[in-house]
Amino acid sequence: MDVKKILSSQLNIDGVSQDEIYAMITETANSDLGDFSLPCFRFAKALKKSPVQIAEQLKESFGGCQIVKEVRAVNGYLNFFVDNTVLAYSVLAEARQENFGASEVGKGKTVCIDYSSINIAKPFHIGHLGTTAIGGSLYKLLKKQGYDVVGINHLGDWGTQFGKLIVAYDLWGDKEKIEQGGVEALQEIYVKFHREEETNPELTEQARRWFAKIEQGDERALQLFGWFKDITLKEVNKIYKRLNVTFDSYAGESFYNDKMQPVLDELESKGLVKVSDGAKIVDLEEYGMSPCLLVKADGATLYATRDLAAAYYRKNTYDFYKSLYVVAYQQNLHFKQVFKVLELLGNDWAKDCIHVAYGMVSLAEGSMSTRKGNVVWLSKVLDSAVEKAKQIIHDKNPALKDKDDVAEKIGVGAVIFSALQNARIKDITFSLDKVLNFEGETCPYLQYTYARTNSVLNKAGNAINARIAPDFDSLQSDESKQLVKLINKYPSVIADAAEKYEPSILSKYLIDLAQAYNKFYIGHRILDEELSRQIPRLYATDAVNKIIKDGLALLGIDVPEQM
Ligand code: ARG
Repeated sequence: MDVKKILSSQLNIDGVSQDEIYAMITETANSDLGDFSLPCFRFAKALKKSPVQIAEQLKESFGGCQIVKEVRAVNGYLNFFVDNTVLAYSVLAEARQENFGASEVGKGKTVCIDYSSINIAKPFHIGHLGTTAIGGSLYKLLKKQGYDVVGINHLGDWGTQFGKLIVAYDLWGDKEKIEQGGVEALQEIYVKFHREEETNPELTEQARRWFAKIEQGDERALQLFGWFKDITLKEVNKIYKRLNVTFDSYAGESFYNDKMQPVLDELESKGLVKVSDGAKIVDLEEYGMSPCLLVKADGATLYATRDLAAAYYRKNTYDFYKSLYVVAYQQNLHFKQVFKVLELLGNDWAKDCIHVAYGMVSLAEGSMSTRKGNVVWLSKVLDSAVEKAKQIIHDKNPALKDKDDVAEKIGVGAVIFSALQNARIKDITFSLDKVLNFEGETCPYLQYTYARTNSVLNKAGNAINARIAPDFDSLQSDESKQLVKLINKYPSVIADAAEKYEPSILSKYLIDLAQAYNKFYIGHRILDEELSRQIPRLYATDAVNKIIKDGLALLGIDVPEQM
């Protein structure tokens, strides 16, 4: 229920639109002064009256509505006191309905989300957690807002490294060992190649030739290249399943091989291409950026060339409303360059391409780095989190049913939540102890609160459906009011998170909601009360139950029914 909307629709101010009034009404921090307030200072000039007079006048002319108990004009402010019974009654009825928080604002519009976008034959390490978790959550948030969403895994499946991998495989590879060892086994021979290459330049030359064969479509080259891809995807798909993320397209860099020429031709014909040391570039000096590299002197295309082709392909195929790229902020310049080139080509949709940047993850124990060889594999982080969750369950609740399943949900959930908890642009330091602390602002805390609501609802049995008039006086305490207000906020939180591409808005809200519920739970008897007074408290419990489950699902996190 949008109380501000109800209030603004009842207020008429000459020369001020309803939307403007809406935007000016604020929720007050101090409920002694009312629940909502409209400052009247900005109208003084236009109406040629003092703010105090205006507030008085608005108060007199306010039509009144069920939700408002009282209106007061105080020092140029118009303050509204909400009737908590009416509010709780309608908010809780709404919040307990299927799909609470869904919206249709995105109806008929398509959003592309390029996320995760892993590199073939490379480790899926903890650095990919951010893009995978944030992208996966935006996918669900935007769907809930009614958008058609296309999830794209822009695979890093192009480049000379695949030539190297073929040479390495022919020299030291063992088919069976690689099928069993997966990407880690591929990494091993790849690293060996790099070591040997330093003293044997002939290897580099061989690798170059094999990559050229991939480009020319040589049968054996393609077959091996495809095999590397299958091995990688098989492995990452297991992780995607655990993280609850899905993709609609795996069109990676190699997909754009035959789609770059038209873009290059258009750039030429519009006079945007410059030749510098034999390479083709777009000069961006005028815009304070280094040039965008299109084709190297040896004829090889680049990452940016493929991104230009991909942007056109996405526009032509999906006719997107927005096209998001969930990629680390290290690539800020790359996307600025690509979007600028699209704009210089005269595409008005270039403004709809958005780099959704996020920060770095480091481990509390010390920063991770691929170069030093101490890669932190995401699957191993997930496994350790699950292992630790198992220990905690063993200590706290050894009699729990389905322990393994619960531990998987707690462990994986904790890791996902850690990537979604803070504003995405922030760098984070990951620590297992921190993310699995049941008392902190963590995922286990949310899951625990959910389990608590379950246990209340289970104990209550069918009381919630009793045919008896609920007495909403049982929801008049400050804690109750606070809780109802938060429950009411859920739809606007989702809208805000989706609009700002910021899942942390939802994460933070869920923590607030769980804290408010736990305060309410500790401060109120729920079950040993008269039935009429129980029912509203059960309604509130049920609403919290549904929101935590739905909210965590939007973050890609499962909830155990018991903990
Ligand atoms: N594969 C790249 C990397 O791991 C990310 C690709 C992001 N998407 C894109 N369209 N450039 O750095």
